[in-house]
Amino acid sequence: MMLRYTGGVLFVVLLLSSSVVHSRLILDDLIRLPFDHSSVVDRVFGRGNDIDDHSVGTRWAVLIAGSNGYWNYRHQSDVCHAYQVLKKGGLKDENIIVFMYDDIAYDIENPRPGVVINSPYGHDVYAGVPKDYTGEDVTVNNFLAAVLGNKTAITGGSGKVVDSGPNDHIFIFYTDHGGPGVLGMPTYPNLYADELIDTLKKKHACGTYKSLVFYVEACESGSIFEGLLPEGLDIYATTASNSVESSWGTYCPDQDPTVPLEYDTCLGDLYSVSWIEDSERHNLLTESLKQQYELVKTRTATSPFYGSHVMQFGDTELKQDLLYLYMGTNPANENFTYVDDNSLHPSSSKSVNQRDADLIHFWNKFRNAPEGSPRKFQAQKQFTEVMSHRVHLDDSIKLVGKLLFGIEKGLYVLQTVRPTGQPLVDDWNCLKTMVRTFEKHCGSLSQYGMKHMRSIANICNAGITADQMAEASAQACPNFPSGPWSSVHRGFSA
Ligand SMILES: *[C@@H]1O[C@H](CO)[C@@H](O)[C@H](O)[C@H]1NC(C)=O
Ligand SMILES: *[C@@H]1O[C@H](CO)[C@@H](O)[C@H](O)[C@H]1NC(C)=O
Repeated sequence: MMLRYTGGVLFVVLLLSSSVVHSRLILDDLIRLPFDHSSVVDRVFGRGNDIDDHSVGTRWAVLIAGSNGYWNYRHQSDVCHAYQVLKKGGLKDENIIVFMYDDIAYDIENPRPGVVINSPYGHDVYAGVPKDYTGEDVTVNNFLAAVLGNKTAITGGSGKVVDSGPNDHIFIFYTDHGGPGVLGMPTYPNLYADELIDTLKKKHACGTYKSLVFYVEACESGSIFEGLLPEGLDIYATTASNSVESSWGTYCPDQDPTVPLEYDTCLGDLYSVSWIEDSERHNLLTESLKQQYELVKTRTATSPFYGSHVMQFGDTELKQDLLYLYMGTNPANENFTYVDDNSLHPSSSKSVNQRDADLIHFWNKFRNAPEGSPRKFQAQKQFTEVMSHRVHLDDSIKLVGKLLFGIEKGLYVLQTVRPTGQPLVDDWNCLKTMVRTFEKHCGSLSQYGMKHMRSIANICNAGITADQMAEASAQACPNFPSGPWSSVHRGFSA
């Protein structure tokens, strides 16, 4: 009760302060009109560094880490680091909305309690990060409501939403596991591409932004926008990977000699640290979205053995915009003008497939634990459970395919990839129904099982009915699996 009351007061204070800011903006705009020309010149040539240049409207940001668990350290650390860059860029806390489970900094496994780093020699990025939506409040519902600016639809959390106006610029950054057509969340259900795109269309219809930039790190993240995000919404999106490949964790133990020995989890993600480290270093009045896209694309795909194809979607003419419009710029970087390639510092760090990063953690935990200790036993148990649930999921989905389409054709249908530019599935409700049906019989898809979303989508695309799917799933999984990785105690993922 006490907590609720305090939350209410905070809420009122936020409301008050945001209306004060708005009236000041209007005033400033009027006064500044005659100087528009000089502010453009300043922006182009990087001479001015006026963070309070309101001619660009208010900058809003939504940052979201879709995972929890210490083995997923890197997603929350990406988000915290992104916050620090935006904060230094001049965005105000009232305009930055952070979604993170917040179980990393004080996890018993964290060698530096209360500290989160996003690179081997990085500084703490945790201090000061607003805890708008944490724990069980990190939900699809709250995320979409926050983007839309719909306060009444929010449950729990700080109540902060993107309360934007027509001249404002919005930046959204999502990082986590994903799969074809879906982005993971630390709570169920997951975020499906159709709901995300619908929300963006609604936001556009409200006329409450000038332009919106969306950066997404997740496996198969291209599938979130491919064939789904129309042009004309004033949205420019880039994704860590195309629709058919994994994205990559980086600064991982074993892979990278510079990661401090006490860390047995990856510290960042390749696409995420690429843009964050670039933005952190430069005068963003001198760098365009396009330049950052090219640079991130190169760094994310440098090795023939790992890495992914960074993609762009939506209104690509927006990429002429300067990063400053969305991220502000750190006055301390005033003299660090962006020139092509000047932040591609070659890194010795190899990268790890998102889907194997948890294995790396459990494996390192196992290897480093003293012989015969409870810790060693626990790590071994975790490793075995993860592995066996993976095998179970892979086998079950294959068997479902064979039962539905025959031994010969089964795998072929499941693995079909639609031509470039087509969405993953036509009927999203079918996809969600099929996911629930599969999970009812075979256990949770879990983080790893999101990779099978394409197979399930193809089952819909082939016109299979829910009854046929239920029958095949029941046959493929006569026993409901046990163990934390297979349980549906969190509910269905769709
Ligand atoms: C905001 O959310 C509430 C509750 O979900 C809903 O009834 C209302 O229509 C939403 N408003 C807008 C503008 O979307
Ligand atoms: C950038 O360079 C100018 C000219 O040398 C100098 O006056 C200014 O202090 C520098 N800015 C910063 C943030 O170091």
